[in-house]
Amino acid sequence: MANARLESLRDYPFERLTKLLADITPRGNTPPINLSIGEPQHQPPAFLHQIVTRNSDTWNRYPPQSGTPDFKRAATEWLERRYELPHGMVNPDTMVVACAGTREGLYMAATVAISPAENGGPKPFALMPNPVYQVYVGASTLAGAEPVYLPATAANGFLPDLDAIGAHVLARTQIFYLCTPSNPQGAVADLAYIEKALRLARKHNFLLVSDECYGEVYSTDTAPVGALQAAASLGGSMDNLMVFHTLSKRSSAPGLRSGFGVGAPSLTALMVRLRSYACAATPLSTLEAAAALWRDDAHVAETRALYRRKFDDAERILGNRFGFYRPAGGFYLWLDVGDGEAATRKLWEVGVRVLPGGYLTRPEPDGTNLGQRYIRVALVGEVEATEEALHRIARTL
Ligand SMILES: Cc1ncc(COP(=O)(O)O)c(C=O)c1O
Repeated sequence: MANARLESLRDYPFERLTKLLADITPRGNTPPINLSIGEPQHQPPAFLHQIVTRNSDTWNRYPPQSGTPDFKRAATEWLERRYELPHGMVNPDTMVVACAGTREGLYMAATVAISPAENGGPKPFALMPNPVYQVYVGASTLAGAEPVYLPATAANGFLPDLDAIGAHVLARTQIFYLCTPSNPQGAVADLAYIEKALRLARKHNFLLVSDECYGEVYSTDTAPVGALQAAASLGGSMDNLMVFHTLSKRSSAPGLRSGFGVGAPSLTALMVRLRSYACAATPLSTLEAAAALWRDDAHVAETRALYRRKFDDAERILGNRFGFYRPAGGFYLWLDVGDGEAATRKLWEVGVRVLPGGYLTRPEPDGTNLGQRYIRVALVGEVEATEEALHRIARTL
């Protein structure tokens, strides 16, 4: 007795990585450096710890499912500042819902949007990029949809080609996950691209989910646009849209498990209902600290400067090898090394842990795997350790 859909999901990439490297012990004189997981290691601001401690008398209270009014106000003020939204476009009381990191919200969005086929009818489609964040696959599969993988390759600027999605596919689509800046390639969708995706969502009545968890990590002079800007430029309606943000990357606080979703009131209400049935509400002390983090932009600029330094180091050390390019957003290198699994094993011998690109991609219908040649390198560590790892990569491959 078990859920067949759940059993059908493959191992999470990091479990596959553990198996791939199980028989290798890094050489003794090389302290391991983990660049496989997108877990920022910079220190979050000290006030985070202080606020959580100061609110330690709140453990005997159940927190509200959608977040406190103050948390939702702080999130909304940040959205207005960051994306230059017209004041009033986002109503904090009806359009914002706290979630335990974007992961939880992205997962819940599928349950909110997907009505599985009844009486043996065809499964609805869930569109997502390939390479893909595994949560999109798991969430839509468990909600009864069939994932449709849209190639995001160098040839199309590492974003799915919206014009290549057939009308018969769009007609069956109930959710479309867009990730901008994208993981792992760091591509940033421009306003016209997101507007087009939103128009498609409205024309074919599906939910566009914009995963913007890397929206504050960028090395360009101008910040990446977000889907709320597209909604604003199309007249301000939030219909058919949910956008997710997190403090995991922005504030180097992946352990806080704090993010939020923003969308049309009808969708947000369903999200809150689902949270009531399925999720542990975010603790009050976390919400209090999170509100303060959303209100502070200075620490985010400092973090961005650290990532820029690491990309400078990568550019200097790797030069034009492995198809190196400086991504517009995010904190990953997506390196073409010929054989991602072989390179990952070789690098672990010298104590550098990366992720084979093929663990983030699904095979194409012809059996090829567009991630197979790549490794993903997360520049999440301290500057010195990252520089050392980059030297080892350049020497070893
Ligand atoms: C594309 C993408 N979306 C969402 C997440 C989830 O992040 P969190 O739940 O910490 O906000 C990650 C984490 O690495 C990610 O890479």
